[in-house]
Amino acid sequence: MESINAVITGVGGYVPDYILTNDEISKMVDTTDEWIMGRIGIKERRILKEEGLGTSYIARKAAKQLIQRTKTNPDDIDLVIVATTTPDYRFPSTASIVCERLGLKNAFAFDMQAVCSGFLYALETGANFIRSGNYKKVIVIGAEKMSSIIDYTDRATCPIFGDGGGAVMLEATTENVGIMDAVLRTDGKGLPFLHIKAGGSVCPPSYYTLDNKMHYIYQEGRTVFKYAVANMSDACEALIERNHLSKEKIDWVIPHQANQRIIAAVTQRLGIPPEKVMVNIERYGNTSAGTLPLCLWDFENKFKKGDNLIFTAFGAGFAWGAIYVKWGYNGNKE
Ligand code: UT7
Repeated sequence: MESINAVITGVGGYVPDYILTNDEISKMVDTTDEWIMGRIGIKERRILKEEGLGTSYIARKAAKQLIQRTKTNPDDIDLVIVATTTPDYRFPSTASIVCERLGLKNAFAFDMQAVCSGFLYALETGANFIRSGNYKKVIVIGAEKMSSIIDYTDRATCPIFGDGGGAVMLEATTENVGIMDAVLRTDGKGLPFLHIKAGGSVCPPSYYTLDNKMHYIYQEGRTVFKYAVANMSDACEALIERNHLSKEKIDWVIPHQANQRIIAAVTQRLGIPPEKVMVNIERYGNTSAGTLPLCLWDFENKFKKGDNLIFTAFGAGFAWGAIYVKWGYNGNKE
């Protein structure tokens, strides 16, 4: 019997209209366009400003476009996974809200929390549902409203993050394309360096936590930077070796968009030239679980069937990894 693999058959994406520029951020905190461009590589980021809208709005927009582009009957969708750190509510899941808004009648759905590595983890999880043979169409979404957990008086974090997300369709194939291999890791050592202090079960919300701004992202950037470069590079090297991929055979690297200098350090270590590395951090900033599908959305027109893609991400936890994908179609599906 031929073995079944999961292949990406389409991409959708969404970013909010509002553009928060470095000049505007420079009026909020003591920073400059030069510092942000030089140290991070971000020019602007998108912000979901409209009151009453959360991550499910971004996820739904991306998934709706995906369903249109792939000409999918919504009744045929079996599963929706939403990778997010900024769910609409503590519960129910953001994925359940997406299902309702898209009118999916035959799907089950859940959220996945692996912060910036969420899309990687969700992609491998979705692929395994397809490989089981029991599910035919799985939507994997990475979406965030990072602006909901950012302190816009903290110059160490507020220039970095933005809102947005993307979605991919996974379907079964017996061809030699699809999600080929994954190296995924979690060590839990990152808690002191990157977290939100309050709002969880250890420290529920209170006047004290609100007064002390404990519901925003806390990051020790230099430490996270060091681990990000080392762990993403190691995961990619392990994946490349295991799949006998020389650097000439790699067509594209799609890295998590956290910092242009991290992307440069990882890809230099791998020996991959910049023209093979997909970068859009300048326009969207770090959208956490949204960065990888937003890169696919932006650069879909460059991919050809059979291209070898390496995805890699690193984030809080620490949680990180790399996935090898053989692309399944040519150019844009619009
Ligand atoms: O996506 C999840 C995983 N996260 C990451 O991968 C993020 C990893 N870390 C980073 O990307 C970088 O560490 C940051 C972008 C967060 C910070 O860049 P850095 O080059 O590591 O800066 P730093 O924290 O070492 O700070 C250098 C200096 C400090 O001043 P002193 O102590 O040298 O006088 C900071 O106070 O830059 C100062 N600084 C700023 N200056 C102007 C920090 N933030 C700013 C700012 N504008 N916005």
